Amino acid sequence: MTTTTTLSFIHRFEPAATPDAPPILLLHGTGGDENDLIPLGRMIAPGSALLSPRGKVLEGSMSRFFRRLAEGVFDEDDVRRRAHELADFIAEVHDAYGFPAPVAIGLSNGANITAAMLLLRPEALAGAALLRAMMPLRDPPASDLAGKPVLLLSGMTDPIVPADNAAALAATLKRSGADVRHQVLPVGHGLSQADLAITKEWLEGL
Ligand code: MLT
Repeated sequence: MTTTTTLSFIHRFEPAATPDAPPILLLHGTGGDENDLIPLGRMIAPGSALLSPRGKVLEGSMSRFFRRLAEGVFDEDDVRRRAHELADFIAEVHDAYGFPAPVAIGLSNGANITAAMLLLRPEALAGAALLRAMMPLRDPPASDLAGKPVLLLSGMTDPIVPADNAAALAATLKRSGADVRHQVLPVGHGLSQADLAITKEWLEGL
């Protein structure tokens, strides 16, 4: 299926091939687009419906899901606005394609907007795999994530996400009631084979 420009985000949608496979939302990193994570989605979640939007914010020519002031320094008003906008899009897709609350798989900037959605619009997601996420908000709201499965995979030598920042995100999500599994892998900011294998195994266990 090709890119769709109707609805409020440019996106790709692939319907489920297996009826009981969990629907998956794929959120790319800075400079990615709606095509980037489709092969990863097919590999990690074979048979699942896949929804992959393109971030609306441009940094130069690179698409992102929210504005930042510098690397690791976020425009938090924009984080909030964009998290709501993306959650509204998921509701739109629910009506358009019958796509229920998905499990998000977010990479880097896509993981950060996913973390923001978990905190601000928990009803939008059934769970989330956050690959190299950091705290999206300095002062996160109390949110109700009771029992929601969250996988957080961090990189031991990640130059963008400090270890204490990832740990603070895991603690915040746990405090909100999420069922958090946080693993620190011996890698940097980029995706590794271990990320794919662990995320696949975690999804299969849901
Ligand atoms: C972000 O801006 O969300 C993070 O710094 C990750 C990135 O996109 O490089």
